Amino acid sequence: MLKVLVAGACSCVVSLTCFVPCPLLAQSAVRAQADRQQWYLNAGKMTYVVGVNEQGILQTLYWGPLLRDGAVVPVARSLPERASQYPPAATTPQEYPAYGAGIFPETALKVNSLNGDRTLVLHYESARVDGAKLEIVLKDTAQPLRVHLYYQAYAEGVLARWSRIENIGKGSFGIENAASATWNLPAGTGYSHRWLTGMWGGEFQLNEEPLKTGKSVQESRTGHTSHEANPWFSIGKQGETTEETGPVWFGELGWSGNWQIVTEYTSLEQPRVTGGYNPFDFHWTLAAGASLETPKFYAGYTDGGEGQASRILSQFQLQEILPKRGEAREAKPRPIIYNSWEATEMNFTADTQIALAERAAKAGVERFVIDDGWFGKRDDDHAGLGDWTVTPKKFPQGLKPIINRVHALGMDFGIWVEPEMVNPDSDLYRQHPDWAMNFPDRQRTEMRNQLMLNLARTDVKEWMFTWLDKLVSENDIAFLKWDYNRIWSEPGWNTAPGSSPEHPNPDAEKAIYLQSIRNLYEVIDRLRAKHPKLEIESCSSGGGRVDLGILERTDEVWPSDNTDALDRQDIQWGYTQAYTPQTMVAWVTDVPSMDHRMVPLQYRFVVAMQGALGIGANLTKFSDADMALSAKLTEFYKTVRTTVQQGKLYRLASPLAGDTSQMEYVADDGSQAVLLAYVHSQRFALPYAAVHLRGLDPDAMYHVHALDPDKYAGEATVSGSVLMGAGVNLKLRGDYDSTAVALERVR
Ligand code: DGJ
Repeated sequence: MLKVLVAGACSCVVSLTCFVPCPLLAQSAVRAQADRQQWYLNAGKMTYVVGVNEQGILQTLYWGPLLRDGAVVPVARSLPERASQYPPAATTPQEYPAYGAGIFPETALKVNSLNGDRTLVLHYESARVDGAKLEIVLKDTAQPLRVHLYYQAYAEGVLARWSRIENIGKGSFGIENAASATWNLPAGTGYSHRWLTGMWGGEFQLNEEPLKTGKSVQESRTGHTSHEANPWFSIGKQGETTEETGPVWFGELGWSGNWQIVTEYTSLEQPRVTGGYNPFDFHWTLAAGASLETPKFYAGYTDGGEGQASRILSQFQLQEILPKRGEAREAKPRPIIYNSWEATEMNFTADTQIALAERAAKAGVERFVIDDGWFGKRDDDHAGLGDWTVTPKKFPQGLKPIINRVHALGMDFGIWVEPEMVNPDSDLYRQHPDWAMNFPDRQRTEMRNQLMLNLARTDVKEWMFTWLDKLVSENDIAFLKWDYNRIWSEPGWNTAPGSSPEHPNPDAEKAIYLQSIRNLYEVIDRLRAKHPKLEIESCSSGGGRVDLGILERTDEVWPSDNTDALDRQDIQWGYTQAYTPQTMVAWVTDVPSMDHRMVPLQYRFVVAMQGALGIGANLTKFSDADMALSAKLTEFYKTVRTTVQQGKLYRLASPLAGDTSQMEYVADDGSQAVLLAYVHSQRFALPYAAVHLRGLDPDAMYHVHALDPDKYAGEATVSGSVLMGAGVNLKLRGDYDSTAVALERVR
């Protein structure tokens, strides 16, 4: 049995290198209690327990604070029939409820058999512990179908769950719904539910409501993760859970296609969360001997409030999800990017890009990225997508001269791509009209004058890998901004296995939803394997493709096309609930913003410093004073960015709640803290209220390094207890004033 370090009773949260020595406990990641048919999974400060009941059904037995090794919970028992409307199948908190035996709440699995049976009753068959991983096998009582449930415990405080549905018979099954997992919370009252919704230009909006009887459905039907909702949930207790205190059960999915999370509260007071593939328009033919695996559904528990839930997810993503995993924390944090999109859109030449690059280097930028418009006949969004060769009109000698110039300026080079799309006005479309998703007799719906390629097709996948590989092999490209600018329509695939133009099979064609995402992942995985230094940003008209599936393969995210500094704070407040600041790219752009708001340059910078700082403004139009301020701010940012990107985030005051807001970050080893503070509009000449920091060592002394010494009113060296108790006094006034303070621990 593998022993892992889990943070037990100590104050250190998830880090195994915490600054304050604490009694880390060696506990089993997975403990089988064979005599009770129970399995105990420990992840950080959380324990999750499952067990087999007297009917052979696998139940959730416990999800909450860490249980000590050796502690046991009551053995599994199905709930008795409460009335004839409530069979035990429906009321017992099943781990992986399949539709059958009278179950009516949300189910994780729904399968049709060839003999007409549309139900399943899954009974425990076997279990296997392998280090921090547990596999439990269930088998249907009537049909040749097994379900493998997988659990993986992570020391950061997260448990991953997913399933594999295996056909062990000779005929095929039709799967109508396959979730990754159902998470049962403790039965009871007084829960509150939080989730993220949004729109183009307004992603990651945080919602909160009491959890009421019935279902709350978050999902995507757009073919990608979507702007409208993000696959994350968080459930707390009303009146108990705050940003910094109280119980939180939280989770997020790793899937970049149609997904669904159903948060349910039954009339018998059982909260349940079921998530995975979206059953909408879903079908998967499970042939004899074949398996279908579902995406990973990650979840955790903390009693440290919403802020702690986010910190657990952030550390988990840095250690276990992002392409560099673990390494990412040691490695150089995200570089400061310059992206030319807002400055030039597609109207540029090599010379205008070089002029921007020269200014960017002076402003402290480390990576120069040319956005859309460098290929094919791409002068506007009517043409060119699919023709991935450099346009000689803009780059007569190809990309090499500009890349060399960018390198000479001390930056590396990145470029924009949108591989899954095609303009009808392109050579690719003229050669392969059948490569675009379509139903043969139906008009193809264009959005932004473009169509979706059918990436489920093997020929499209191979074409995509080949040109991307060539582009990156022939040019010294450090970074791809991988964009995706429309949603799906006409999701036909009449050459799918089991379908043909002569004998179309609509159910077989629905495999397009899964296969296209699998192929997307495969292309990126192959590209990264062949070019290990290549980094990738996930963009989809802003934040339309952000989830733990794409983040396993991409280093950062473009969270929104909205760079207005006030709106961005709302978006970043929501984004950081679910995702690490290291992935959250933010550019400083020109004003007026999309909201026609005029915001001073420093305020725009200090907002963009909440994550991975970038610049998108037209630097050739910056005054000398603006250039000098930009250089000063990027220099400051470089001294704090490891803490911002990889430390522990304390969201001190929400931009949604008042006229001021603050974010604080504490380095993982406690050596530095960073405060970013804002006033949107001062009122009644009131002074800026003292900002009470969190997460510091009360006994330590901190040396203050203020970005603006004239805006900091305090001692040069201050104790942690004063910084947290009395707070930091800042002189912020007027409209859109901001500053930053770094605190270096001295003893
Ligand atoms: C949408 C992205 O979000 C923008 O940043 C930019 O890359 C455009 N696409 C380019 O078409």
